[in-house]
Amino acid sequence: MDELELARQEIDRADADLAAAFVRRMEAASRIAQYKKERGIPVFDPAREARVLEQNARRVEDPCLREEYLRLLKCAMALSRARQRRLGAETGDTLWVESERGGYGVTVARGALARAGELFDLDRRVLVVTDRGVPAGYAAALAERCGEPVTVTLDEGAAGKSLSGAKRLWSVMLEHGFTRTDCVCAVGGGSVGDTAGFAAACWMRGVDFYNVPTTLLAQADASIGGKTGLDVCGVKNSVGAFWPPRAVLIDPDLLKTLPPRLLAEGMAEIVKTAVVRDGELLAEIEAGDPYEKIETLLLRALKIKRALVEADERDEGPRRLLNFGHTVGHGVEALSGGALYHGECVALGMLPMCAPALRARLTALLQRLGLPTRCALEPEAVVAAALHDKKRTARGIAAVFADEAGAGYCREISPDELKSRIETGWNR
Ligand code: GLY
Repeated sequence: MDELELARQEIDRADADLAAAFVRRMEAASRIAQYKKERGIPVFDPAREARVLEQNARRVEDPCLREEYLRLLKCAMALSRARQRRLGAETGDTLWVESERGGYGVTVARGALARAGELFDLDRRVLVVTDRGVPAGYAAALAERCGEPVTVTLDEGAAGKSLSGAKRLWSVMLEHGFTRTDCVCAVGGGSVGDTAGFAAACWMRGVDFYNVPTTLLAQADASIGGKTGLDVCGVKNSVGAFWPPRAVLIDPDLLKTLPPRLLAEGMAEIVKTAVVRDGELLAEIEAGDPYEKIETLLLRALKIKRALVEADERDEGPRRLLNFGHTVGHGVEALSGGALYHGECVALGMLPMCAPALRARLTALLQRLGLPTRCALEPEAVVAAALHDKKRTARGIAAVFADEAGAGYCREISPDELKSRIETGWNR
C-alpha cells in the first residue's frame, strides 16, 4: 500500500472518531438546551465559551494546527448554540429558523395576532407598516400591543413596493425620531413585508424587523427566509437586501377576510414547495379540502422552506429550488400587466417544467384549486420576458424542473427548449 493510501486510511479513521465525538457533543448540547429551557437560562454563555476555547487550545501543541483546531471548535460551538436555540425556542406551534443574524421563531397558530406582545419585543417605538388592501383592524390590533406605535398605510401592491414607498417609511421614521433600538413591523401581504423589511434593513444600517403576513402567499413563502426588496426601474425586486426578521407570527384566522382568488394564489406556493421537495405533502393537498387543514399544510411547507434557507440563506444553491415555476411565471407576470396574480403566474410557470405524468396530475390539482392552467400568451413572448429575469446566466436560463413529485432539481435551459416546453406545457 502506498503512502497516499495509508494517509487516506488514517483520515478515514480520524473522520469516524470525529463523527462519533460530534454526535456525543450534540447530544450533550441537547441535554443542556433542555436544562436551560426549564430554568430560563440564556443559551449564549460567553464566559463558558471562552473557557472551552482556552482549555482546548492547550491540547494542540503545534501553533498553526492549534489555530486551525480552534476554528473547527468554534464551528462546533456555533452548531451547539444553534441546536440549543432551536430546542429552546421550538414548541408545538413555533418553528425556529437559524440565520446569519442569529435565528428567529415562526409561530403558526390561530389567534396568534393577540399574542404579538408576547412573541415580539414591542415595548419601544414601532413602525407598523400595512397597506390599503389589508383590513385596518389587523394593524390596529398590532399597534395596541406596542409601546409607541406609528402606523403607515402604503398604497396597495407594486405602488407601495417602490422607492417612494420606502422613502415614505424613512421620512416617518425620521419625523418620529426612530433610533437603532426601535423596530419595524409589517402587517400585510408580500409587498408590505418586502417594503417594510427593506426599510428596516436600511434604517441606521439595520433595525429589528417583525412580520405578520396576512395573505396565504406571504404566510406560505415570503414571510421567512429574509428576502426584502423593491421594484425599481420597472424590474421586480431589483433592489433589495437579505434582512431576516426577528420573529414571524402567522395567524391563519387572518385568512378569513381573504378573497378566494388570493387564497388560491397562496396555495400555489404551497403546491410549488410540495412538488420540489415533498411528494407526501402534495398528496395531502390533493386529499380533501386543503383549506380545512391549512395550519398543517402551512407548517409542513414552512419546514421545507426552513431546511432550504438554513442550508442556503443567500440563495446561491439549494434554496433556488423554491424558484420552481418562477422562470416562466415571471415572464407571464411581466406580460399580463397585472391581470394575473403572482401565484397564478407561478401555477402557469410550473406546468412546462414538469414531466408529462406529473404535469397531468398538477393540472388537475391546480384546476381544482381555481388556478389557471391555460394561457393564451405566445410562448416566444414569454421566453423573451423571462430572459429579462435576473436568474439568467451566460449559458441560458437557470430553471427548476420536476420529473416526479418531491424531486425538484435545477439546471440551465436554452431559450429554444423553454419555448417548446411552454408550447406543450399549457392547455391552449
Ligand atoms: N420565494 C423564494 C425564496 O424565498 O427563496
